[in-house]
Amino acid sequence: MTIECEKITTPYSATLNRPILNEISCKIHQGEFVALLGLNGAGKSSLLKAIVGLVPLAKGVIKVNNSVQNQQKKHHPDVAMLFQGGGLIRQLSAIENVLCGKLGSLSAWQSLWGFPKHDRRLALELLDRLGLKDQAYQKTAYLSGGQQQRVAIARALIQNPGILLADEPITGLDVLAAKQVMETLAKLHAEQGMTIVVVLHDLSLAAAYAQRAIVLEAGQIIYDGISQNLPEIMQAG
Ligand SMILES: Nc1ncnc2c1ncn2[C@@H]1O[C@H](COP(=O)(O)OP(=O)(O)OP(=O)(O)O)[C@@H](O)[C@H]1O
Ligand SMILES: [Mg+2]
Repeated sequence: MTIECEKITTPYSATLNRPILNEISCKIHQGEFVALLGLNGAGKSSLLKAIVGLVPLAKGVIKVNNSVQNQQKKHHPDVAMLFQGGGLIRQLSAIENVLCGKLGSLSAWQSLWGFPKHDRRLALELLDRLGLKDQAYQKTAYLSGGQQQRVAIARALIQNPGILLADEPITGLDVLAAKQVMETLAKLHAEQGMTIVVVLHDLSLAAAYAQRAIVLEAGQIIYDGISQNLPEIMQAG
């Protein structure tokens, strides 16, 4: 088992007149590629944040690799999250942004002395693997949206996670850049057996890349099953 959500419910929200997440139960097994779908405000980002312990729960339990996730605990080292909007530091170069993914695991001393050489080598290797070797020392502000998203992926990968949660990694990208990012995720899934949960707004991309789709509506799961034929299923639903 990789991620297990048991009836998770967030505290009551007065503005929504309901909890943001309402009795969500799902199990995501190791090596699955899952698309998380739903309209704006359905609770997709909240669910990913809850899995990494960033959202308090009123009820229910989340287990990651069989250990219970809670807010007090430091973020589970095996889970990396790509936040909606990327969250890169625009003034820093691509490689410096990737190295920031290592900050959590360095001691204060190490970060004062600068990043160890082997981390720099690893960051370069990751950028190379994602097709960004030539952009490694460029300020990320000057990179295209698709390139920035791949820098964000490299930053997540430097932690060597078994699970990658990606919140809208292709929103705002053109068709080609979106495809590159999705192909990158597909490769990580196929070659390293990485467990991937990706928030998408496009049903056909979900069907093309993910085996399974979970659809949220108003904080509840309204569909959990194969992603093929999703456009037809949602229309019929
Ligand atoms: N910290 C918060 N405090 C109060 N309400 C919140 C908070 N975070 C999210 N919400 C509300 O919870 C609902 C779900 O938000 P969430 O960001 O999870 O949606 P989403 O499915 O990711 O939407 P989008 O597709 O727009 O990214 C929204 O109505 C949002 O306004
Ligand atoms: Mg969101």
